[in-house]
Amino acid sequence: MAHIGMDLNRFILEEERRFARATGSLTLALTAVETATKIISANVRMAGLANVLGKAGKVNVQGEEVQKLDEMSNSLLIQHLSDSGQFYGLASEELDEAVFPENGAEGRYVISFDPLDGSSNIDVNVNIGTIFSIHKVVSGNEEDFLQEGSLQVAAGYVVYGSSTMLVYSTGRGVNGFTLDPSVGMFLLSHPNIRIPEKGGIYSINEGNYTMWDSRLKKYIDTLKARGTKARYIGSMVADVHRTLIKGGVFAYPADSKNKSGKLRLLYEASPMGFLIEQAGGRATTGVEDILKVKPKSLHQRVPVFLGSSGDIGELLEFL
Ligand code: AHG
Ligand code: MN
Ligand code: MN
Repeated sequence: MAHIGMDLNRFILEEERRFARATGSLTLALTAVETATKIISANVRMAGLANVLGKAGKVNVQGEEVQKLDEMSNSLLIQHLSDSGQFYGLASEELDEAVFPENGAEGRYVISFDPLDGSSNIDVNVNIGTIFSIHKVVSGNEEDFLQEGSLQVAAGYVVYGSSTMLVYSTGRGVNGFTLDPSVGMFLLSHPNIRIPEKGGIYSINEGNYTMWDSRLKKYIDTLKARGTKARYIGSMVADVHRTLIKGGVFAYPADSKNKSGKLRLLYEASPMGFLIEQAGGRATTGVEDILKVKPKSLHQRVPVFLGSSGDIGELLEFL
């Protein structure tokens, strides 16, 4: 029985034991994510000292400056996920193409991940994170990465904030684990997270206001007139984590400059949408549920509106 303080490994094993046909593969897969993110957390905590701040002097497929910590986090995840032998393929925000680990031929899963989310906040000591999304191998090729979000077998994130928290779901609710650095273990701190039906916070980059669709402007103006609180950290993991715990709306909409918005479907919108829905909230592109979108490419962008079901319902009336 899950209780506060239970360690992540025991929690994952107890979840596995509930499935007679479980092979233990997902347990090993999640454990590889856990190990890599613990090491990333240690490096994030001393970034200012470990010479991992600043730019790596290259631009990624997104056309964005790669930070040293992006690169280090990506390498750590590639190494540990490959070593686990559980993944047929890996797709990363930092890699143009998917990679297929040598010892992954029998791997039952593919994983897409954002090794370090919120890169613009690295050098100013503001919360950043790692996001991951796991699907089953179906056809044994790149198509396996392009499955709808509703078919995820697991999704989660690690937020490197005032504490390091791992939040994940395998489709039976959402649970949060806080890293106890003194023992190097993630311990259950937020069992069965449920997002409030309505929240009094909206989270969006208002710097893009002039480029938004007029209906979205009207919705945001209505929230302001109501005195709704505005909170925007600029790291999706941190903004979504706050939305999951406190409720409200997080949005990264399309605008006149970015017709599909900024956030990537495979390793930002889809895993976060899965978690929010598992916690009782809603996640939409403004046109359709995020989890129903059939991906066409690894780095495809989608508009994102997610959060409390009551708030998203009201937003959709405006859109
Ligand atoms: P990443 O650092 O992985 O590229 O992601 C950054 C994303 C996301 O974390 C955040 O919600 C968004 O960029 C913020 O974008 P703006 O700075 O344009 O608001
Ligand atoms: Mn990101
Ligand atoms: Mn990133």
